[in-house]
Amino acid sequence: MSILDKHHIIERNATLLLVGSLLVVTVGGIVEIAPLFYLQNTIETVEGMRPYTPLELAGRNIYIREGCYVCHSQMIRPFRDEVERYGHYSLAAESMYDHPFQWGSKRTGPDLARVGDRYSNAWHVQHLVEPRSVVPESIMPSYAFLATTPLEITNISGHLTANSRVGVPYTQEMIDNARADLEAQATPDADTSGLEARYAKVKTGDFDGNPQTVSEMDALVAYLQMLGTLVDFKTYDETGGDR
Ligand code: HEC
Repeated sequence: MSILDKHHIIERNATLLLVGSLLVVTVGGIVEIAPLFYLQNTIETVEGMRPYTPLELAGRNIYIREGCYVCHSQMIRPFRDEVERYGHYSLAAESMYDHPFQWGSKRTGPDLARVGDRYSNAWHVQHLVEPRSVVPESIMPSYAFLATTPLEITNISGHLTANSRVGVPYTQEMIDNARADLEAQATPDADTSGLEARYAKVKTGDFDGNPQTVSEMDALVAYLQMLGTLVDFKTYDETGGDR
């Protein structure tokens, strides 16, 4: 009688099957989870990550509200074809301030983890207003209304506070200046010295091509333009030398 023939003993005894299953799941779980306790850090140390500026955070909220994640991922996997197309594979540190994260699970459109700086602001606006005017075969919906919808900014300090409660290192100064920082980032010729001191590498100016108002388009484009631009890969040690 081979071992497989004896399998009917477990299959015909519910209690034995349950105990056996539990045992298998426990061993599997330990094998998966235990090594994590011996890594000093599951999030690698990198230079350059900072919390989102209030305008970027507002843009991110629009990204979530409009369901951009339904068609776009923000997670470049460590495969050669992806790295050649999109750039360095995504690091855990790059989404550590994301609540909720936007890795996505479907790529009807391209990955957006490093789309920042790849196109001009004008290209993004044109593409969001009418995708087919710049990419004729595109099936992406039009989001033209974003350009004509003023950005709702009444509770932006509250957004920062909520994020700080779940661990994003917003300082009290950042929270107090949230509204002013938001307006400064999207207003041409504004005094951005405070904003720039608080948020490294921040991009400022008029994003949507209409300097009169701060629109939802301003916020979304500001968000898209910073995606994947924060980490300085020249200082990143792939071997984890700094652990
Ligand atoms: C129905 C699926 C779908 C939705 C929803 C969608 N997109 Fe797209 N997106 C696409 C496809 C397909 C492309 C590739 C063709 C093109 O460039 O238009 C694309 C391309 C893009 C690109 C250019 C990326 C590159 O590297 O060339 C950006 C930026 C973008 N989308 C942003 C957004 C944003 C922001 C939203 C939400 C407001 C959104 N998309 C919603 C399908 C979608």
